[in-house]
Amino acid sequence: MNDLLIDSADGVMTITLSRLEKKNAFTQDMYQKISEVLNQSRESVDVRVVIIQGHETVFSAGNDINDFLGRSPSGVSAVLNFLTSISTFPKPLVAAVCGPAVGIGTTMLFHFDLIYAGDNAAFSMPFVNLGICPEAGSSYLAPRMMGFPRAAEALLLGEPFLAESALEMGFINRIVPPREAASLAQRQAQKLADKPLGSLLATKRLMKKGQDSILAERIKAESDTFAMLLQEPAAREAFSAFLEKRKPNFSKM
Ligand code: COA
Repeated sequence: MNDLLIDSADGVMTITLSRLEKKNAFTQDMYQKISEVLNQSRESVDVRVVIIQGHETVFSAGNDINDFLGRSPSGVSAVLNFLTSISTFPKPLVAAVCGPAVGIGTTMLFHFDLIYAGDNAAFSMPFVNLGICPEAGSSYLAPRMMGFPRAAEALLLGEPFLAESALEMGFINRIVPPREAASLAQRQAQKLADKPLGSLLATKRLMKKGQDSILAERIKAESDTFAMLLQEPAAREAFSAFLEKRKPNFSKM
């Protein structure tokens, strides 16, 4: 798997999205591999903290659009497994995000504990523009974290929000020049890795307590709706338009 680089040192596992020619768009194999390594890391004494990062110019263009067009039931479960692994991961998750973070590139971040962003970071959840709906529990978490009006701009209008507003909303921790985001994430992750693991696990569990079952239910409901909308003409039109590099035409839908 060349689309992901995985490194482990001193208790910190770093997963780097490395499919730059397609702007780090996620394939089913990438979802599957990340789920696998996260599931192995849950119990591993060698991994205390996980970092996910992209490139200085782009975090991720979200789900691969070709993959959306041909998504099979196994594709649906690859994404669902990925989201479950991330949203229930018991150890700290740290992200370094620069450039565009589109779709699942943003929604996965709702489950991270620390997010360091380059000043070029642009977060977007353009699901409605693609004829689909939010995922990763973002329909539940975005209004609560961002406030309903801003969540509506992000989720209904599909408008991007930049690093400054993400910081102001409390969605990210800090903004730095893009070339410094990965090293800052490493330093912060190392601080976490040096702390007593039992205490970290208990604290994260307590901080998240109360929303676990609501989230699991919402992620499943979103996934069912998403799978249904993927088959509708609006989504087919939106994906074809992207691949044909033209504007979609929803006038008959
Ligand atoms: N799926 C598949 N291919 C993708 C992709 C995606 N999500 N995002 C980008 N690519 C491909 C492009 O088709 C292009 O391929 P090509 O070189 O073979 O033509 C290549 O990656 C570069 O993309 P491009 O759009 O030219 O880069 P950019 O720097 O101008 O823009 C983005 C970067 C991320 C803003 C833009 O690619 C984008 O909006 N992508 C789609 C995001 C999206 O809607 N994702 C789904 C969310 S649910």
